[in-house]
Amino acid sequence: MPTKSNGTIGVLTAGGDCPGLNAVIRGVSKAAMHYGIKVIGIKDGFRGLVENRTMPLDNAIVSGVLTQGGTFLGSSRDKPHKMKRGENIVDLTDAAVRTYRKLGLDCLVCLGGNGTQKSAYRLQKQGLNVLTLPKTIDNDVAETDVTFGFDSAMAIATEAIDRLHTTATSHQRIIVCEVMGHDAGWLCLGAGIAGGADVILIPEIPYDLESVARHVLKRQRAGKRFSLIAVAEGIVSREEARARATADRLTHELRAETRIITQSASQTGEGVHLVQEAVASRLARHLQRLTGVEARVSSLGHVQRGGAPTPFDRLLCTRFGTKAGELLAERHYNIMVGLKGTECVPVPLKKVAGIKRIVPPDHAWIKTARLVETCMGDKL
Ligand code: F6P
Repeated sequence: MPTKSNGTIGVLTAGGDCPGLNAVIRGVSKAAMHYGIKVIGIKDGFRGLVENRTMPLDNAIVSGVLTQGGTFLGSSRDKPHKMKRGENIVDLTDAAVRTYRKLGLDCLVCLGGNGTQKSAYRLQKQGLNVLTLPKTIDNDVAETDVTFGFDSAMAIATEAIDRLHTTATSHQRIIVCEVMGHDAGWLCLGAGIAGGADVILIPEIPYDLESVARHVLKRQRAGKRFSLIAVAEGIVSREEARARATADRLTHELRAETRIITQSASQTGEGVHLVQEAVASRLARHLQRLTGVEARVSSLGHVQRGGAPTPFDRLLCTRFGTKAGELLAERHYNIMVGLKGTECVPVPLKKVAGIKRIVPPDHAWIKTARLVETCMGDKL
């Protein structure tokens, strides 16, 4: 163990939590300390950075957390440039920079999903050194084959689909199981295939209600009197996709006319959760009416983000964290550590920030699903 001080880093966890955050905090802290780097924990994500709320991290504190769900540092969805203060949203980037300088940090390590990658990149552009790690159950961060937390959430969703299968069979019902994933279908597709769902609907393939109903009826005729339908929370029907495209085009034109440079409503995800909340129930109601088969809904929600990480995630998190520690010792900054094939590698943060990795239409998992006769909801 080196005795000479090799700098100081701050570690924060931001955005929605997931299993594996503590395992990464442990990995990065232990490896950094191994190289003589002092580690400071920043509480509650970027809000803690802005408000200078920290805790020292040492070997004792990061011991015994490998298997614990959540994040002992706390998390928030706050961004330094859009911080809620009372009724207002204010830009507190300067306060974040001040804390970084006051703590004497050589680098800020941010564990988070797409929002966090963007916030970290903004801080990089303010002159701070940053290093990020890709966390999210949605698996939608660019420049990595997988994000940590995804495998654990997929295991939970798969077990739920297994359990729904047996009750759907007993009662000869349609069960619509709503899976998280924001605007990406990875979690639903992965759990749907692993759980043998009969229909898998993902945001990347706008669904045709009639095709889904026909698939259920075809199964009925074949003597399979139940159907398990896995739906991602972000799904849209073909009609909604068309309406959304028109609305986006109009928004763009109108905002361009008034010289407002901003993103469209669907790009920013404004209102997505409110609109999508009823998506599984609506689908179940329509399918029951069209097929005459009784339907039920099960929305998995935040149970998918809770509890202990899977062995795959524990290993991945420990590899991600320790790789980050090695790179910090080399003073290799302004990168995200991603998984490419079997290797943990640094990728420039500017190649990650602002890019969402959704399921490509020709992805192997889609082909796999179709080859085991899973209906993907497209028009027949
Ligand atoms: O990004 C992770 C995620 O769990 C998404 O799958 C989901 O849409 C969202 O967060 C839910 O956010 P919240 O925790 O704010 O309800």
